[in-house]
Amino acid sequence: MAKKSEADRADELRALINHHNERYHVLDSPEISDAEYDALVRELREIETDHPELATPDSPTLAVGAAPSSLFAEVRHQTPMMSLDNAQTEAELQGWADRLVRLAPDLDLASLEFSCEPKVDGVAMSLTYEDGRFVQAATRGNGVVGEDVTANVATVRSVPRELARAAAPFPGRLAVRGEIYMPRAEFDALNERQAAAGGKVFANPRNSAAGSLRQKDPKMTAARPLAFWAYQMGELETEGTQANRSKPGKGWSPASQSEALAQLKVAGFPVSPDARRVTGLEAVMKRCRELEERRHDLPYEIDGVVVKVDNLALHQTLGQTSRAPRWAIAFKFAPEELSTRLVDIEVSIGRTGRATPFARLSPIFVGGSTVQLATLHNEDQVALKGVRPGDMVLVHKAGDVIPEVVGPVLDHPDQPKRRRPRWRFPTECPSCGGPLVRLPGESDTYCTNIDCSAQRVQRIVHFASRGAMDIEGLGDQRVVQLVAAGLIADPADLYGLETGGLVALEGLGELSAANLLGAIEASKRQPLSRLLVALGVRHVGPTVARDIASAFGSLHALMAAPSGALAAVDGVGQVIADSIVGFLANPANTHVLERLVAAGLTTEQPGAAGAGTAGAGVEQTLAGKSVVVTGAVEGYTREEAEAAIVERGGKSPGSVSKSTFALVLGESPGASKLTKAESVGTPILDAAGFAKLLATGELPPA
Ligand code: IVH
Repeated sequence: MAKKSEADRADELRALINHHNERYHVLDSPEISDAEYDALVRELREIETDHPELATPDSPTLAVGAAPSSLFAEVRHQTPMMSLDNAQTEAELQGWADRLVRLAPDLDLASLEFSCEPKVDGVAMSLTYEDGRFVQAATRGNGVVGEDVTANVATVRSVPRELARAAAPFPGRLAVRGEIYMPRAEFDALNERQAAAGGKVFANPRNSAAGSLRQKDPKMTAARPLAFWAYQMGELETEGTQANRSKPGKGWSPASQSEALAQLKVAGFPVSPDARRVTGLEAVMKRCRELEERRHDLPYEIDGVVVKVDNLALHQTLGQTSRAPRWAIAFKFAPEELSTRLVDIEVSIGRTGRATPFARLSPIFVGGSTVQLATLHNEDQVALKGVRPGDMVLVHKAGDVIPEVVGPVLDHPDQPKRRRPRWRFPTECPSCGGPLVRLPGESDTYCTNIDCSAQRVQRIVHFASRGAMDIEGLGDQRVVQLVAAGLIADPADLYGLETGGLVALEGLGELSAANLLGAIEASKRQPLSRLLVALGVRHVGPTVARDIASAFGSLHALMAAPSGALAAVDGVGQVIADSIVGFLANPANTHVLERLVAAGLTTEQPGAAGAGTAGAGVEQTLAGKSVVVTGAVEGYTREEAEAAIVERGGKSPGSVSKSTFALVLGESPGASKLTKAESVGTPILDAAGFAKLLATGELPPA
């Protein structure tokens, strides 16, 4: 007998799952993430398996989706639209495959063919065609009865009105199953437009696709950038109708899922180019890993891979449960959205004094790493998201993307009944106690105290960071410690540090002190472009800094340059020029700069015209040519590679344009230069090609 608490828990789970089904399927406004929903279903299924007496005939573990809403007419599916079981690990995928062998003992998993298809995150749809003509579109609903959304789906451009002639003769009646989805780029653009118009902003492409389909007025749907992918042939009447007496062509009796997809393509349906037929379970797992790695590069959102036994005759043998076929499974990727507690909202101070609110979260593992902090950008964003300290919130983290708080999950079981008061932006700097000021018309708030120690710390951290002077061993913690001990207050002070002062600090022995001083000393040899980045001038990042350093060659020439000369540099312009001039007009800045120069920092850009090392005697193989470098090339740092180009009479700007002669691709290249080069057809060179280019000025044969 099951314990009383398990019976209670099963009841509770059923109520919860039904509630969330409605939020997701009917209201298009889920309150919990897919992963949390799946966990509830799993828990209920486990209880029901262990205690069959607790299973109920109306349990959501047996059902598909939710009952259709009353907004649309009902459509009864001729063959039910089923759900899919899912596997979250490779072991579970293996478990599914082992079950196939138990059902069909002749199967050999190493030679069995599978169709692996991206599991696009959208809305399942059944399209009906009669004599090759589109007549109806229906949602999945509860799997048996769905909603008639024909008028809305008719506005989706990639849904063919008529089947392509190449697929004639057509079946008398044909059901095509697939997914209506919103491409990622269209989703971002739609949300931007919605936000600008003060309208509803969607949480993800799936919700926006579902919301767009469930419009009373098809004109509303037509205005939304929806697309369709066909993934399954549903029922098919092999006899023609009165109007169409011919037997459908051979392609309409596929022997496998991959043949069915090929035929759908011939008939004019979009089919995912990322669907693959593979042989053996090992290859299935490899394909799943591949797609998981590439998921963020795809132009549409996927949450897993649907793995189907390819041979359709085997589908009959393997059969189905009440809700899902046994011949297919959804391999689900690790979740990128989970809810957790927003412990508190705090404010951090940046090097410019900007006060940025951020969320301190109960740690959760999401999108491949543990997240406990997430930026909230500014005061307006906190209000827009509507989150309050103590709330349960949905956290989104995808790959390398910065974690984001999506919004509160007010119906989460752990959400407090009484919410804490709305958060207010503090009026005093958490670091120095000075006033925090938000200027009218601006979204950012600033600590205006120039002596604020948090600002000092951040300025020095930025100075030492990888893209700037790259001083190893000088991270946040160390800088905080040095500032607190009164050893440094600005970047120039770094060059006056001595062993004696350092070893007195906690956690710094002779060896680490020597290493740190060595790294600081080495940074003096960084080229001018790095120094320009390190100074933290507004709008001056690595690309602009390199363009300026190459153009002027030395700090001396740069400081003497009028604003017009700066603005005339390729890629600079007036705004950046004004920012540099403004920076240099501030005596506090020039004072630090003078002390840096006095400490012996390099103030020249090696190889640049006008710099001490300009290439006398080197053959000018690249005269008039513009060659862009991304990443470090074998045998050169990026700066050295650029210097080599300039030395030979060429230019090496920080970005690719139509007039770029070649792009040299090193290690850890930047994606934007590569993408741009590919789109404008710039030749791309490796280290060997670069060597040839330097020597001869010519491109290696393509
Ligand atoms: S096959 C009986 N293939 O995943 C076969 N489904 O629960 C049922 N989905 O919302 C579906 N991509 O719309 C299949 N390539 C694909 C799919 C796919 C996405 C969706 C489907 C449904 C869910 C399955």
